[in-house]
Amino acid sequence: MPEYNNAADKAAPIGVFDSGLGGLTVLRELMALLPQEDFLYLADNANAPYGRNSPAKVRRDTLNNVDFFIQHGVKMIIFACNTSSAIALEAADERAGSIPVIGVIKAGIIAAMEVSGDLKAPAKIAVLATEATVNNGVFSRELPRVFAENDLPEPIVIQQACQDFVQVVEDGKWDDPLADDMAEHYLGEMRTSENPDLAILACTHFPFLENSIQKALPDSELVDCSKALALEVKELLLSFNLHNEKKHDSELKFFVTEDTSGIKQNIERILDIEIERVHHVDIKNAEEFER
Ligand code: DGL
Repeated sequence: MPEYNNAADKAAPIGVFDSGLGGLTVLRELMALLPQEDFLYLADNANAPYGRNSPAKVRRDTLNNVDFFIQHGVKMIIFACNTSSAIALEAADERAGSIPVIGVIKAGIIAAMEVSGDLKAPAKIAVLATEATVNNGVFSRELPRVFAENDLPEPIVIQQACQDFVQVVEDGKWDDPLADDMAEHYLGEMRTSENPDLAILACTHFPFLENSIQKALPDSELVDCSKALALEVKELLLSFNLHNEKKHDSELKFFVTEDTSGIKQNIERILDIEIERVHHVDIKNAEEFER
């Protein structure tokens, strides 16, 4: 395990990225649990939605994001994106060298295990995710493996791609009746057939649609990775001796790869803060990142 104790490392920001607004569900929890840390948030919206891109493109774009954060001197990189975590975590870890890289999938599985603890029979777990995450199959592989490792009965895993939820969130329409219709379209059949015990919101955009998803799956417990992820990050910062000890209000900087209208307002609405500006960056050109 790498050991960091240099004051500059401790004071450095943490990089958090997603294809768009979804990762803010993770940033929100990180800000609540780690108020002394500074964060750089990157929305790679020029390449969104990641869930409809090929694995090769997701890998390339993710590694560009990693380069961006390395150039900005972060002390840790968080993939607030299940699609990147499924496809590119290992490659990113190699690229980032001694900078720890954390994905969200492990946290989603831990959160699911906590909820499943009380179930007598093997849990029926729905995994609601992007098309690329479903095609990758990471949850179908990892859920049974991790449950067995923890002496829990291997769950029955039902994967369901709900890709169009992502755009609803990007459009800021999570309270729109359209979201209910879409949830019913994706999940109605699952309710009448498998009716899962729990449903992992395995795309960081989906917690915004929690109400609509819960209406479509009223008997299923919804599982969100963000709290477990924030706890994991806190433990890692402490174990790497990387936590910021300077008492100050968290500094936040936001970057987008495409300057779409309304993005600043949506970030402010989600985090319930005012931000000075959102920086537009071209991350294909790593040498010329705007600081
Ligand atoms: N929020 C992302 C995820 O968790 C990506 C959504 C997308 O761009 O398709 O997978």
